Amino acid sequence: MKKLILTLILLFCIQNSIVLAEDITLVFKKSDKKVVTIDLQDLKTKLKTHKIEFFDPHYNKTKRFKAFALQDVLNLGFKNNWSSDKYTDIGFKALDGYNSVSKIGLLNEDGGYLTFEDFDFPSWEPIGRNKANPAPFYLVWLKENQTTEFGYPWPWQLKEINLTTFKDQYPKVYPDGVAKNSSEFVGFSIFKERCVRCHSIDNQGGKIGPDLNAPKNILEYRSQDMVKEFIKNPSEYRYTHMPDHKDLSDQDLDNLIRYFLYLDKNKMED
Ligand code: HEC
Repeated sequence: MKKLILTLILLFCIQNSIVLAEDITLVFKKSDKKVVTIDLQDLKTKLKTHKIEFFDPHYNKTKRFKAFALQDVLNLGFKNNWSSDKYTDIGFKALDGYNSVSKIGLLNEDGGYLTFEDFDFPSWEPIGRNKANPAPFYLVWLKENQTTEFGYPWPWQLKEINLTTFKDQYPKVYPDGVAKNSSEFVGFSIFKERCVRCHSIDNQGGKIGPDLNAPKNILEYRSQDMVKEFIKNPSEYRYTHMPDHKDLSDQDLDNLIRYFLYLDKNKMED
């Protein structure tokens, strides 16, 4: 009889797939290398739990969850150094492999919460077009305008958080092997700050302006002086979506040219 009851309990557990807090885990990675895995039990012990209630645009109704503040979670997993200059982006990977990538800067803002329990639905309420179960974790934002339209990540079925560097993301834009204090590298830094959101190098980067290295490097068909002049004052040449960069010094422009020359040279060596 005892055995039968135990079997029945076991069957009940399997059927309802009761998951223990120790089995629910979140993986933290840097440049795709695992740093640490933390289970829900541990998160609950180490972090403050918040009860949040807000209008959830993905459910299109008011929802109530138990959650951790996202910054607390990141500070625990990455030991407070996730917002250093080294990392530019952060990817949130779901169980099905879908990766939503956001700029790290956004995560310095308050308002992000990692939910782990739906107050009104013990085994979560299905979400999205595919009626997915959002477990184990669902990331939400409470402030106005913290929506996916403005680049805030709202992944559900979250299982992995990965910090990426510019180099991981755009290896062809990054001048590997040049010294950090060289003109090439300084030119690259300017490009990274001000140009890559619109321009690509070998198809990596922004798509608003033309690629500046492929199929031909810009300096193969424009003179250096022309390019420098244009970067500084495009509006004097054409009506264009490229903004003027009047604050760039001659030295800055020379460094950009050195970076373009470096790209050209490295392309030929391929
Ligand atoms: C907001 C988007 C945007 C930004 C930021 C931007 N560009 Fe452009 N750029 C464009 C567009 C669009 C063109 C396409 C041609 C045009 O409209 O004049 C262009 C054209 C160019 C050209 C080619 C001109 C030609 O016709 O041969 C160069 C070189 C260039 N950009 C360099 C830069 C550099 C260097 C930076 C950063 C300092 C930069 N751009 C920042 C949008 C941008």
